[in-house]
Amino acid sequence: MEKRKELYAGKAKSVYTTDDADRLVLWFRNDTSAFDGEKLEQLDRKGAVNNQFNAAIMEKLAAAGIPTHFEKLLSPQESLVKRLEMIPVECVVRNISAGSLCRRIGVEEGLDLNPPTFELFLKNDPLHDPMINESLAVSFGWATEAQLATMKELSLKVNTVLKELFLTGNMLLVDYKLEFGLFNGEVVLGDEFSPDGCRLWDKDTREKLDKDRFRQGLGGVVEAYEEVGHRLGMTFDY
Ligand code: C5P
Repeated sequence: MEKRKELYAGKAKSVYTTDDADRLVLWFRNDTSAFDGEKLEQLDRKGAVNNQFNAAIMEKLAAAGIPTHFEKLLSPQESLVKRLEMIPVECVVRNISAGSLCRRIGVEEGLDLNPPTFELFLKNDPLHDPMINESLAVSFGWATEAQLATMKELSLKVNTVLKELFLTGNMLLVDYKLEFGLFNGEVVLGDEFSPDGCRLWDKDTREKLDKDRFRQGLGGVVEAYEEVGHRLGMTFDY
């Protein structure tokens, strides 16, 4: 496999083509952003931690029958993935109220949500990823009804698998964002699952162990990500 040209640079990852038209390389950078890129910092080790954390989670999900784009780790900061045709909709699952949900409907942080909620947001930086619904996604042609049903089913299956996994490390999976794409017409989990895109709290103290540490200026961001990994038995190469 030969890495070729940069196809796209996102806020935290760069994507490269390869000599295989159906495979891409993801390069996890140390760049950390919040508030749609308004707050930007380089955090040592973050690219390596997120790449290897994501690899371990994607392998867990695949073992549970969830189709993912992840193929293999290539280096501390690089992974090989299937090239998907991305669906421009973010899926957010919440088990406990936090973040934009609290701001949007004026509820306090930390309320149990039973059953977990499922929300859709349009991927659009200039508009700050507005919340949408299934009707809008179908009418604008962003996804079909069948694809949306699969995205919801897979998002909730991820919840079942990961809530249990994080509990083994005495952590609560508060919420998370997933992105999906199509590979040969099949809906497949893409992007990444790391503490950059989810909220994780210590079960006893409710200490935040995720990107809210960066958003809220609490410090110890990468150290918290590493602790999450270590609690799940992961080790990291830098
Ligand atoms: O901001 P909000 O509360 O809606 O975020 C819900 C979850 O989705 C959080 O875990 C957040 O980190 C994640 N998220 C993300 N990327 C976005 C929006 C939300 O990773 N663009």
